[in-house]
Order: sequence, then structure tokens, then C-alpha cells
Amino acid sequence: MNNFRMYVPTDIRFGKDRLNELPEVLGAYGKRVLLAYGGGSIKRFGLYDNVVNLLKSNGFHIVELTGIEPNPKISSVREGVKLVRENELNVILAVGGGSVVDAAKVIAGAVYYDGDAWDLVEDGSKMGKALPIIDILTLAATGTEMNRNAVISNPEINEKLGTSGWELLPKASFLDPTNTFTVPTGQTAAGAADILSHLFEQYFNRTDGVDVQDNIAEGLMKAVIKNAPIALKTPDDYIARANILWASTLALNGIPGNGRAGGWTCHPIEHELSAYYDITHGIGLAILTPRWMKYCLDNDETTVSKFAKYGRQVWHFEGENDSEIAHRAVKATYEFLKSLDIPMTLPEVGIETDELVDEMSAQAVVHGGLSNGAFVELEKENVAQIIRAC
Ligand code: NZQ
Ligand code: ZN
Repeated sequence: MNNFRMYVPTDIRFGKDRLNELPEVLGAYGKRVLLAYGGGSIKRFGLYDNVVNLLKSNGFHIVELTGIEPNPKISSVREGVKLVRENELNVILAVGGGSVVDAAKVIAGAVYYDGDAWDLVEDGSKMGKALPIIDILTLAATGTEMNRNAVISNPEINEKLGTSGWELLPKASFLDPTNTFTVPTGQTAAGAADILSHLFEQYFNRTDGVDVQDNIAEGLMKAVIKNAPIALKTPDDYIARANILWASTLALNGIPGNGRAGGWTCHPIEHELSAYYDITHGIGLAILTPRWMKYCLDNDETTVSKFAKYGRQVWHFEGENDSEIAHRAVKATYEFLKSLDIPMTLPEVGIETDELVDEMSAQAVVHGGLSNGAFVELEKENVAQIIRAC
């Protein structure tokens, strides 16, 4: 296990019927609020009215940034920065999924930056002070509610990049499973795939002596595999939604990943698919992940033992033959994702695998550092092979 720093002071308010705590939590940072949200789902299921009424009756001044897109665009960030500056706002309340929270994070940092906000996305080391962020999360997937990362897209140059900063950690996150009841089935499935992918990216790793991290990751995987089908069948099953929501938070708040060296693989590749084709993040991951797993097994036999461990611990496969268990585990992963009704090929999501593949593969290697430190290191030809298998 390697050395690590874990600093995650986010105040988690988990559970239903806790919105009345918002004025006190938010008020600690100021009364002039940027209320950031997406395309309107929070209006349709009533959360918007509840939040606005509560804040107005408690004397908050609200300025709204609306229409933040899935795969949030830098243009929304720039608009948010302008609103904060013009109205002298002192805190951001993000209400929505990961896209809304991520946009809020970069707005928070860019307010204190003299140049263009995109500079902070391209180079996280420029990220300094930030406005305080509070969020009310409405979709379980990204883990952004308890981490310092944000992912922003710039369609003009086909780039979707991650950035981060210690100051971007939300001060408080309201995680009410009932706010995720209305997430459509496709997004629920994509969220489950995203959570699993976060766990796989950290678990399939070469650092030894990380029993704690591995056991936690396996437990979280099992919780998602158990509860995602229940939430799809019964969207208002509180227990299933609660478990998925807490798994999403724990999967990417550092606990399963700290103490390990090495980089991620499917995320950098997926970010290129989203940058060029604007697809849903979790769907792209679901399509890529089993193909990447198979690539690992077919091309690097040192990966077999970890995939076999995954098969035994998560899928409860029994037997002596590591290779057989490893391949069964990859198949089980594919079958599970397919059972969530995820379209499991790129053409089904509008990506023809003979176009732009070389360009996206080259970009993934550069942006994701895939040739240096990934579980199985990849050059652009290898990435292209994985994408073409999708
Ligand atoms: O925009 P609205 O109308 O709110 O609708 C959203 C959106 O269309 C809808 N939705 C959200 N909550 C809902 C709901 N619809 C009904 N009821 C609700 N309760 O769902 C759609 C997708 O929302 P989005 O926020 O885009 O989804 P998600 O939370 O999956 O976020 C995806 C973004 O996060 C990035 C992804 O790359 C992508 O840009 N990621 C961020 C990470 C981080 N900050 O740590 C890590 C991840 O790996 C990921 O890269
Ligand atoms: Zn993700």
C-alpha cells in the first residue's frame, strides 16, 4: 500500500426529509446564491419549487443558472462565472446530476481566475481558491458529491477533460434517495455502469497489499449488482436507491482508490467518445468495459489472477482454474450490463467504428496517459482495437 493523503471534509446529509436543514447549511456561506441546475427535471419532480420556496422564505437572494447540459459545456461555466460576478454572489447551490455539480465546481474556481475558465480545465494546477459549493444530488453515478474532480466539455475543439482542486470539494452534499426516484431507466442503468467502472478502474491495478481497498471495492460492486436491477424494476424502491446512491459516493471519494499507484483506462477512452459524439458517459463505459477486460486477458496473462479474484469474490464463481474463472467473470460483467437494457455496441449509440477511431484513440493515450501506468499499458493501435471490438 502506498502513502496517501485523504482530506474529504464534505458534510454528507444522507436520507429523506432533510431539506429543512438546507437554509442553515447554505447560510453558513452566505445569502447570495447561484442556483445551478440542468434541463428542467428538478422542476418536473417538484424539487425546484421546494428549494426556491424554502430559500426565499429564509431571506436568500437567488440568481439562477439553468440549462446545464449532460456532459456540461464550457459555455455554461462561462455564463455562470458572469452571473456570479455581476450579482456578487457568495455561494453556489448545485441541484442535479453530476453534470450540474461539475459545472458548479469549475464556475466556483473560475470566479477567482483572471483568464478564461477553459484554462482551468486544461490545467488543474491553475485552480486555486473557489466559491463554496453545496449540492443536492439527483442522480447516483459520478461520485462528484464527495470528490474534488470535475469534467467539462469544449465542443468547439472536441475535448472533454477532467480537472480538479482541493477547493472544489463540496462543503455539503444532500443525498436524498427519493430525489433519484424519477431518474429514467436509461440513466439509472448508465449510473450503475459508471459506479462499477469507477470501482473497476481502481481495483484492476498492480499495487500490492491493498486488502482494505480491494475488499471495499468488491463489496460496493456487489451492492450495485444487487440493487440496480431492483431500482430499474421499481424506481421508487427506497432501499435500492439508497444503496446505489451511497455506493456512488463511496466509489469515488478516495476510499477504494487511495494507496494505489497507476492510472485509469476506460474513462479516458470514454471521455473521447463523449467529446466527439456527446454520448452518455455511463453507456460509453458499459460498452467499453467488457471489451477492455477481454483485451487485458487476451494480451497480458499477468492480469488473469486479478480477474479471477474478481470472479470469485464478486460473482462467487468456484473452481481451481484461474483463466476459466477470469473469462467467466468478464462474460458475467457483459451479461449484467446488457441485462440493464444498455445498448452494448457503439453503432447502437450512433458511433460508427470506422470513423474517427484513430483520432480518438490517439487523444485517449495523450489525455489519459494510457501508455504509462495503466493496468495494461496501451498505445493508440491498442485503444483502436478495443474501440473497434465495440
Ligand atoms: O438536465 P436535467 O433536466 O436535470 O436531466 C438530467 C440529464 O438529462 C437527468 N436527471 C438527473 N437527475 C434526474 C434526472 N432526470 C429525472 N430525475 C432526476 N432525479 O439525467 C440526465 C443526465 O444527468 P447528468 O448530470 O449528465 O448525469 P451524471 O450524474 O451521470 O453526470 C455525468 C457527467 O459527469 C462526468 C461525466 O463525464 C459526465 O460529464 N463525470 C464526473 C466525475 C466526477 N466529477 O468525479 C467522474 C465521472 O467518471 C464522470 O466522468
Ligand atoms: Zn465515471
